[in-house]
Amino acid sequence: MDQSMKVGVIGAGTMGSGIAQVAAQAGHTTYLFDTRPEAVDNALHGLSKTFEKLVQKGKITQEEATAIQGRIKPATDLKQLAGCGLVIEAIVEALGVKKALFTDLEALLTTDAVLATNTSSLSITAIAAACRAPERVIGLHFFNPAPLLPLVEVIPGLVTTPQHVERATVLMLKWGKTPVTCKDTPGFIVNRVARPFYGEAIRIHEEGIADMPTIDAAMRSVGFKMGPFELMDLIGNDINFAVTKSVFEAFFYDPRYRPSVTQQRQVESGRLGRKSGQGYYSYGDGAVAPLAQVDGPLSARIVERILAMLINEATDALFLNVASARDIDLAMTKGVNYPKGLLRWADEQGAAHWLTVLERLYADYGEDRYRPSPLLRRMVRDGKTFF
Ligand SMILES: NC(=O)c1ccc[n+]([C@@H]2O[C@H](COP(=O)([O-])OP(=O)(O)OC[C@H]3O[C@@H](n4cnc5c(N)ncnc54)[C@H](O)[C@@H]3O)[C@@H](O)[C@H]2O)c1
Repeated sequence: MDQSMKVGVIGAGTMGSGIAQVAAQAGHTTYLFDTRPEAVDNALHGLSKTFEKLVQKGKITQEEATAIQGRIKPATDLKQLAGCGLVIEAIVEALGVKKALFTDLEALLTTDAVLATNTSSLSITAIAAACRAPERVIGLHFFNPAPLLPLVEVIPGLVTTPQHVERATVLMLKWGKTPVTCKDTPGFIVNRVARPFYGEAIRIHEEGIADMPTIDAAMRSVGFKMGPFELMDLIGNDINFAVTKSVFEAFFYDPRYRPSVTQQRQVESGRLGRKSGQGYYSYGDGAVAPLAQVDGPLSARIVERILAMLINEATDALFLNVASARDIDLAMTKGVNYPKGLLRWADEQGAAHWLTVLERLYADYGEDRYRPSPLLRRMVRDGKTFF
């Protein structure tokens, strides 16, 4: 897969336009297709503004900008993608629509082409099942904004061949990305491991232990760029709630992933976050989320509880071989900007500390969400560290 390979990107929305930018910057002639031609026009317009800014900031020269933009070709018909060696799909998150597209694509592309999906929540295996050759279908999960966030989760479906995983991984490295490999399981790495950052923060607030600015300030005080509530407002409470629900359902209603009524009410009331001017915080007239003073003992309690839940989730992902310890930590630092890898963080205080925190929560509440991962117990028993 060298620069001469043509790349197709399908879906010219938020993700598709960002992925097309990344591919074109890496030197590939990139075809951008959308069923709505105006979406392609909008994407090209947005990209030209982006390149203008990059030139102004001195990140690239005008010549480079012109060359990159020249490599992004609007496609008005899917057939124009026939010569592509890699096609990345970033269309609407609906299994039926994606499967129909993959069936059409397979008929169009040569047998050595790779078909990738940027799905956040659907099974790669289920999408691949639409193809006669599912072994060349793979998940390439970019993060928003794709040109800025380095992480790409590389997800083989059940029958994807190791050779395709290797090809995709090498290509992502060439594109300057940080690829991690993970099993085709709900939420992949990031959207699974990050769930307690939001869920436990909401729970702490529901219990009346602290208000939202205090919880946000506590998490910022240990290096998170944003607290859970301000981050949910940025992501959009509708999007965050949809991801939480989809992970919960995909895990056959495992109670540890149960969504919260608090979040549902936010969505029902239209308090979607920054984009609607009101979420957990109010954003009218340029207002920003209020930050509380960090309160020592209370902050420590909040941080310990949320971190213990995050570390437990990361440990369980490792226990179930979703990804390696290295890749789990890379995913959280490069995909969602965590200040430190969770497993490395776990090592700092030692597994015994985190097991004690979780066992106390489990004993206090008797709820399955606080169930410690069997691997955490094993680490303590064997006196081991993750790294
Ligand atoms: N937005 C994110 O933060 C994010 C992050 C990672 C992954 N994803 C995933 O990326 C995909 C796209 O998300 P998005 O936020 O860019 O969506 P979006 O709504 O911004 O864009 C989707 C585009 O796909 C087009 N489209 C719909 N059906 C099509 C079809 N059959 N053929 C061609 N084009 C079609 C739509 O017209 C639209 O322009 C989804 O699978 C989503 O789960 C999104």
